[in-house]
Amino acid sequence: MIDEAAMREGITKASLILKTLEVETVPVEILQLHVLISGDSPSIADIEAVISRNPEVMGSFLSMANQALNRPVDDLILNVAAAIHLLGLEEIHQLFVLSHVLKIVPVSQTDQTILKRCMRAGIASAELTHWIYGLSRSEAFLISYMQDIGALYMMRHDPLNYRDQVFNQQQAFPISKYQDEVDYYKTSHCYVGGLITKRWNLGSLLYRSVLFHHHADLKSLAVIDDLTSKMVALNRIANFLVFDRFSDYYFTKELEDSFDEACAFVGVTDHMLHAADAALEKWADAESLPEASH
Ligand SMILES: [Fe+2]
Repeated sequence: MIDEAAMREGITKASLILKTLEVETVPVEILQLHVLISGDSPSIADIEAVISRNPEVMGSFLSMANQALNRPVDDLILNVAAAIHLLGLEEIHQLFVLSHVLKIVPVSQTDQTILKRCMRAGIASAELTHWIYGLSRSEAFLISYMQDIGALYMMRHDPLNYRDQVFNQQQAFPISKYQDEVDYYKTSHCYVGGLITKRWNLGSLLYRSVLFHHHADLKSLAVIDDLTSKMVALNRIANFLVFDRFSDYYFTKELEDSFDEACAFVGVTDHMLHAADAALEKWADAESLPEASH
């Protein structure tokens, strides 16, 4: 069930938190690309010129395109023109925005650590979309990568407690410890992250998937939005695979139960899990996070 009053409160509180923090503005290149892509006949050369303007962002964009598409190592996308031919315009837009978000939002080593885990989840999510109708690889990659972007702002809001007392425990207890966050702050990194994705104009599926990525009941979510419920399930599975491969902690029953529920919900097979895990092994240590610039 969706508690609409609690959601309204969560969104209101999240926007109050963001008002007290310095939130990065959208770079002019993003607006330029948006204008180009939404025009009647987008020019490939103009799109290429905008994406190529900043070498650091361009490098991040190409790296993420290779990860999202799981390109063979001997056939990587090495230039923007090739990426434009292989990706749809909306996917190019999303990956370009993500490249900018990653350049300007993370400021600390902890921010980078959180985003690295999310990047890994993105690789697994993207691979799983191969078997899921209606979800593109790069959109799933983007969604899992952005899932915890709100936590970076919650850490700025409550630097003493948020990371260790609230957020980190959610890796092993993704449902109950998330509820503790909502109970304590009357909002959460999901609400804050949702508002951030809105600000960057990244589409409704991303917004809803970030907003609901800790939602306990996939079936009730499916009643409201089927595609979001599938994406939330994939994200849960991806987080579990990342935990399995990289965490030093033991599984909790809650984590295993939420994984099993998600697998049953989208009909994930062992073959699919192995493919996602192989993609993780291949790309998990790839560099796509630009160094923090401030
Ligand atoms: Fe989260």
